[in-house]
Amino acid sequence: MATKFFIFFFITIITLTSVTAEDEGTGFVDSSPNRKFLKSKEKVSHFRFFWHDILTGQNPSAIQIIPSVPKYNKTSSFGLVRILDNPLTLGLKLSSKLVGRAEGLYASASQSRLSLLMVMNFALTQGKYNGSSITIMGRDVIDDKAREMPVVGGSGVFRFARGYAMAKTRTFDPKSMQSTVEFNVYVIHY
Ligand SMILES: *[C@@H]1O[C@H](CO)[C@@H](O)[C@H](O)[C@H]1NC(C)=O
Ligand SMILES: *[C@@H]1O[C@H](CO)[C@@H](O)[C@H](O)[C@H]1NC(C)=O
Repeated sequence: MATKFFIFFFITIITLTSVTAEDEGTGFVDSSPNRKFLKSKEKVSHFRFFWHDILTGQNPSAIQIIPSVPKYNKTSSFGLVRILDNPLTLGLKLSSKLVGRAEGLYASASQSRLSLLMVMNFALTQGKYNGSSITIMGRDVIDDKAREMPVVGGSGVFRFARGYAMAKTRTFDPKSMQSTVEFNVYVIHY
């Protein structure tokens, strides 16, 4: 029994060494930094803020860079792309405390309804989150009451992050086209 265990143990060590030894020490890969993440615990953080999409006025925050393609459904604006640097505030009002900015772009990606491909980095500026960012990539069907978009990663305190964001339009002014969207972001990170 003891011999069997010893052999098993020995074989395991040989296997582990041969897998990692190949590239270690060449400068290409070093697996030791991973231990820091394996030892520390993951946590879930819930962030809530308001995203302001300002299309008109003196200082629009989202700008059309590619127009929609006229021969497709005009209502769904298929092909339209805007680049954005939208303020993220703690309260519903644009004048409330700024907690970060959403940098990215959205593209109208459906021929039959207003459905956007959202690609954004939430660059946060508050406290220990200042300088860290959460990366979102997902589908945003504008007429849906609640829209869900995946958190695909992040930087800084959000390294290795994953999660999801729920978006809900809170105000929309058809005249100025300005909208305010509430974001609830649930992120698992270290
Ligand atoms: C065009 O888009 C609108 C909504 O954006 C939709 O109601 C309508 O059915 C679409 N038309 C076609 C032909 O897909
Ligand atoms: C966030 O960090 C930047 C750069 O380090 C600094 O200039 C800024 O004042 C910080 N913002 C807040 C709200 O702490």
